[in-house]
Amino acid sequence: MKSGTSVPHLAAASAPPHRLQQLLSEAEIQKRVSELAQQLTKDYAGSDPVIVCILKGSFVFAGDLIRQLDFPLSIEFMRVSSYGKAIVTSGEVKLELDLANSVANRQVLLLEDVIDTGLTVDYLKANLRARSPSQVRVCTLLHKPANRIKAVPIDYAGFEIHNKFVVGYGLDYHGYYRNLPYIATLEEIVAKS
Ligand code: PRP
Repeated sequence: MKSGTSVPHLAAASAPPHRLQQLLSEAEIQKRVSELAQQLTKDYAGSDPVIVCILKGSFVFAGDLIRQLDFPLSIEFMRVSSYGKAIVTSGEVKLELDLANSVANRQVLLLEDVIDTGLTVDYLKANLRARSPSQVRVCTLLHKPANRIKAVPIDYAGFEIHNKFVVGYGLDYHGYYRNLPYIATLEEIVAKS
């Protein structure tokens, strides 16, 4: 689940329905994903990188992006967690699923759905660098600079957004809304009748 440190009233667990307000439409997201894919296709021409998709949030972004990448690549998955069911990071990143294959001497492109405090991507870069890749770069769909604790360079970013709690296109609230084709702010919890 994504963090949203400015909305502590969201701390209580709740199932849908919630009041959602669209922030990025499906068309806007798809256009930007295509632009990122074009840039990556230029930058990785003649390369054979490993794309590392960070679960769970990045799987939708990764699915759309990699189908538009016109160079040889392999894909790996990692799952890390620092939020659990909270909306504020615990500050401790835990590795829950590791790579299935070595990235030694490979160019690595980390794919994130969102970079918020930067703690997760900072951990991941350090973790991956210890495996002797030839390069580690970061591509994120969203980044929220307002909450940054670790100043990690971002090589490719889709959208810079304000410090709002967002769901959709892979991002969740208590596991819900990852399936939305757009990204929305979750304004408040609506009591179920
Ligand atoms: C989200 C997101 C990033 C991380 C970013 O994952 O996918 O990995 O938080 O936050 P940070 O910059 O503050 O560290 P989350 O732990 O919510 O897991 P999920 O992707 O499975 O929902």
